[in-house]
Amino acid sequence: MRKYSIRKRVLVTGGAGFIGSHLCERLIANGNDVLCVDNFFTGTKDNIAHLVGSPHFELMRHDVTFPLFVEVDEIYNLACPAAPIHYQHDPVQTTKTSVHGAINMLGLAKRLKAKILQASTSEVYGDPKVHPQREDYWGHVNPIGLRACYDEGKRCAETLFFDYRRQHKLRIKVARIFNTYGPRMHPNDGRVVSNFVVQALQEKPITVYGDGKQTRSFCYVRDMVDALVRLMGTPDSFAGPVNLGNPKEFTILELAEKVLSLTQSNSKLVRCPRPSDDPMQRKPDIALATRKLLWRPRTALAAGLSKTIAYFRGGKVRLA
Ligand SMILES: NC(=O)c1ccc[n+]([C@@H]2O[C@H](COP(=O)([O-])OP(=O)(O)OC[C@H]3O[C@@H](n4cnc5c(N)ncnc54)[C@H](O)[C@@H]3O)[C@@H](O)[C@H]2O)c1
Repeated sequence: MRKYSIRKRVLVTGGAGFIGSHLCERLIANGNDVLCVDNFFTGTKDNIAHLVGSPHFELMRHDVTFPLFVEVDEIYNLACPAAPIHYQHDPVQTTKTSVHGAINMLGLAKRLKAKILQASTSEVYGDPKVHPQREDYWGHVNPIGLRACYDEGKRCAETLFFDYRRQHKLRIKVARIFNTYGPRMHPNDGRVVSNFVVQALQEKPITVYGDGKQTRSFCYVRDMVDALVRLMGTPDSFAGPVNLGNPKEFTILELAEKVLSLTQSNSKLVRCPRPSDDPMQRKPDIALATRKLLWRPRTALAAGLSKTIAYFRGGKVRLA
């Protein structure tokens, strides 16, 4: 199809979600026209309300498990609930979103000869036996556990992306996203950062699973959006998969203490049983991202947490 505008037309599926809304903001700020597609399962109109009305932003309610016919130059495929309580709510739909969603978006990219980026996840490594995780580690995933609808759905999506590349010469990018946090996280998504911040602000007990010695790495959303945009801009010869996240590791207890001190909360820590398949360690090896994207996370945990806390206190925080 002939293109009359010099602005790039970029589709963001899951654009009304946490990471997607920041990505839409950034893409518009970078001079693109953005089409945000979302079924509002976990995303909200509030997340993108400030973009509605911009001549460079368009919002479409659509479920990616159904085919989509639009004209765009690039696709960021983020549509998928990311938090366990959300993706376990309707596990069959979660797998469908990953797999049918990938097929539909890859089909669209094929028809349009568009470049397409998949938001994959560190969960493809499962409960890893290798630490830190590098992209050439194949993972340790329970295919029939409660997390499988997400983990295996995302693994299958990666397979589809690479088969479309091999079979149809599609220009693909696969990002394996590690724990990301920041403003616009869902307050009740059960993820550790939002959990702790909301509990601390409400002076409720801080729920630590197990002994709290399991580690996580936390990447601030602005850094993640930087990486996704950089990845899309890499030469066609580079498809990934590439780990994106912050390699600095914190135990869950350390995170709890940081949140308590930044919120000046009097909440007490309480221990709860660890959920099944909860990984003990999670830390990305980002050597590939550093080399290929010339990127590394820049936001210190305390700085990112302060912005997140301000958001949950009711402040509007924009990052683009
Ligand atoms: N946040 C993280 O730490 C993290 C880590 C790894 C991977 N990811 C991936 O990044 C992407 C964005 O995650 P997030 O944290 O912003 O989650 P999120 O739940 O805030 O965003 C997902 C968005 O997708 C939408 N969506 C869900 N199913 C859909 C469907 N069938 N059709 C259309 N839209 C649909 C939701 O309404 C929501 O707006 C996801 O693909 C997720 O798997 C996120």
